[in-house]
Amino acid sequence: MGYRIALIGAGIISQSHLDALRGMEAFEPVAIADIQEERVKEQAAKYGLRPYTDYREMVRAEKPDAVAVSLPHFLHKEAAIWCLEEGCHVLLEKPMALNREECDAILEAEERTGRRLLVGHTQHFIPENRKAKELIESGTLGELVMVQDIRHVRYFTEQRPAWFLEKAKSGGGILMNLGSHSVDKLQWLTGARVTSVKAHVTHHGSRGDVEGSALAYLQTDRGFAATISLSGYEGVPINETHLLFTKGMIKLQTRGGLWISEEGRFREVGWETGKAPFVLQYEAFLRLMETGDAGDCSGAYARSIVSIIETAYASAEAGEELPVPEQPMRSSC
Ligand SMILES: NC(=O)c1ccc[n+]([C@@H]2O[C@H](COP(=O)([O-])OP(=O)(O)OC[C@H]3O[C@@H](n4cnc5c(N)ncnc54)[C@H](O)[C@@H]3O)[C@@H](O)[C@H]2O)c1
Repeated sequence: MGYRIALIGAGIISQSHLDALRGMEAFEPVAIADIQEERVKEQAAKYGLRPYTDYREMVRAEKPDAVAVSLPHFLHKEAAIWCLEEGCHVLLEKPMALNREECDAILEAEERTGRRLLVGHTQHFIPENRKAKELIESGTLGELVMVQDIRHVRYFTEQRPAWFLEKAKSGGGILMNLGSHSVDKLQWLTGARVTSVKAHVTHHGSRGDVEGSALAYLQTDRGFAATISLSGYEGVPINETHLLFTKGMIKLQTRGGLWISEEGRFREVGWETGKAPFVLQYEAFLRLMETGDAGDCSGAYARSIVSIIETAYASAEAGEELPVPEQPMRSSC
């Protein structure tokens, strides 16, 4: 029998977690909790789990080895800390929390309890992203001089759960939610760390009080700069990252394709599909539980993403470029 795991949150992303866990011997999913009774009962019946409407009651009754937290962002801190204190290892959905202070509280609880935390930065497990990272690390394209990341998603649709559009619950709009993937991709693909940000945001959404676009110019500690352009208004979906080097370029469409320049043209690059991204994410979680190694999904790394986004909001507010505060040193970093 595998490690007993319980899920907190039975919303959209819980489906990907449960589909991954279904095929893994290392884990035994036992229960799921959500305040929406009908939703949790339906999800529990589909996957043969015990349903709860109170996650604390679930954790106390089931005593799982681990939990996966897929809650609105403002609940990440309280759920992660509470579960760590109850003795569970925690797989926490991105973004880690609303701000640096909340991330620090989670990191402190991880250190104090000796239980471990993995933050679900799924970009690391998507095969074309991994192939792009391999090409970048091969060094054949010379020096990296700039990165341009552009994402367009219709953000204010009726299907989007309302909490995403309430700043108090989500921490922000497209910058917080999808920007955390863009910033993660930038840092993880290149190995660089963002040192300063100048950002501009707009608020023209049809629902809620969050920004609907963000444009950020980011400097890194590796001598190249990047732009991240996020738009949530009308248009056509785009998810594209351009990496420009001294000897060529890479075009990555996450969930679309991967190209490398060759003699003045783009040549499509293939990759092995392999295991599903959420299966790989759970394998990373398993490794963490068994060896203590969080790899590149540690809480300290995830905090750096939140810190950059917090700096971007502050920059947009101040109308000037701001440095990203230094990450405090911790023994678990
Ligand atoms: N890794 C990815 O690619 C990816 C994709 C989508 C969402 N996410 C992240 O996953 C998290 C959840 O997003 P989602 O799209 O599933 O949202 P969602 O709104 O569909 O699901 C959240 C669920 O939490 C439940 N909930 C709210 N308060 C609760 C409480 N106190 N106790 C128990 N349940 C409670 C809600 O009823 C809802 O069912 C967010 O952090 C989001 O950013 C990650």
